[in-house]
Amino acid sequence: MNSVRGMRREGYLLGTALLAVLILMSMLWGSAAAQGPDEQQLTEGQQLYAENCAVCHGPNGEGRVGATLAQNWPSIRPDLTVRTIIERGVAGSVMPAWHQDNGGPLTSEQIDALVAYILSWQTGGAGSLAPVPTFTPHPPIAPIPEVEGDPNRGAVLFADNCAVCHGPNGEGRVGATLPTNWPSIRPDLNVKAIISEGVQGSLMPAWHQDNGGPLTEEDVNDLVAFVLSRPAGTVQQVQPTAAPLSPVTIPWLQGWGGVVVFFVLITVLIAAALIWQRRFS
Ligand code: HEC
Ligand code: HEC
Repeated sequence: MNSVRGMRREGYLLGTALLAVLILMSMLWGSAAAQGPDEQQLTEGQQLYAENCAVCHGPNGEGRVGATLAQNWPSIRPDLTVRTIIERGVAGSVMPAWHQDNGGPLTSEQIDALVAYILSWQTGGAGSLAPVPTFTPHPPIAPIPEVEGDPNRGAVLFADNCAVCHGPNGEGRVGATLPTNWPSIRPDLNVKAIISEGVQGSLMPAWHQDNGGPLTEEDVNDLVAFVLSRPAGTVQQVQPTAAPLSPVTIPWLQGWGGVVVFFVLITVLIAAALIWQRRFS
């Protein structure tokens, strides 16, 4: 009987020790999570922002066709607010849905980096990161017969304004594949009208200043020349890819829920061991 009591005391000691270790571990975990984004995540976020968002929201989130993002978000969990908008887009506006689950080009991890970067404006933190170039030079494009714009200047404008949706070479992304055979006698007028006026009821914005856009007549003409310099077949069309399967996550097993479940399991195991010992010793 004495030895059983001794065992039981040891069991309690073991249980208390385990509890202490668990509490310590979860506190460490909590403080690691609270440290926020690291430099690497911010740099990735900045890169993604320059490539995908600056065209509408301005290089420093100051707003352009899109809303001002360098602001203090009136929300208890601004990260969740901003992430949801980025993932799903804003219906009825030109703000696209960016998550692969919603047909966009970005993964959850990339959106995490964007959220971290955007929220860093609340404290002015990321301003110190070096700007990212958005245009990669490519071989000069010969002028297009009977089209007045300059395709090389158009290429730069395209990288800054259109590649975000149409891909760097117009291969298609959230926007249509542009290298195509235009079913029109005057494809230049056709393409110019689309760029100037946008496509009602789609994500394609109106770009001409006459229609509230940011571009001049000359800009639009140069873009037309660039678009027409890529006939069908010059780039490979990108088929929308199926979203990769994300690892199964069980929400209540993460964070404190997981700690509690783990602790309950350990307690049950210790209790079972004690009962077993009492029975057989
Ligand atoms: C084609 C233009 C366009 C692009 C590209 C774009 N946005 Fe937007 N975005 C908008 C517009 C327009 C709104 C405002 C929508 C509304 O509320 O009517 C908006 C709204 C938002 C909002 C909510 C702002 C608020 O105050 O509620 C966030 C956050 C946002 N965009 C993030 C992003 C991020 C991140 C990217 C890049 C991955 C991006 N956007 C790319 C046009 C764009
Ligand atoms: C926010 C995303 C977005 C941006 C930015 C964007 N487009 Fe588009 N664009 C689209 C979508 C979506 C369509 C397809 C519209 C439809 O017909 O439903 C499209 C269609 C077009 C078409 C017609 C394609 C066809 O086969 O009929 C042209 C030309 C075009 N865009 C040029 C441009 C140019 C030039 C720019 C930059 C100044 C640009 N787009 C910027 C989303 C975008």
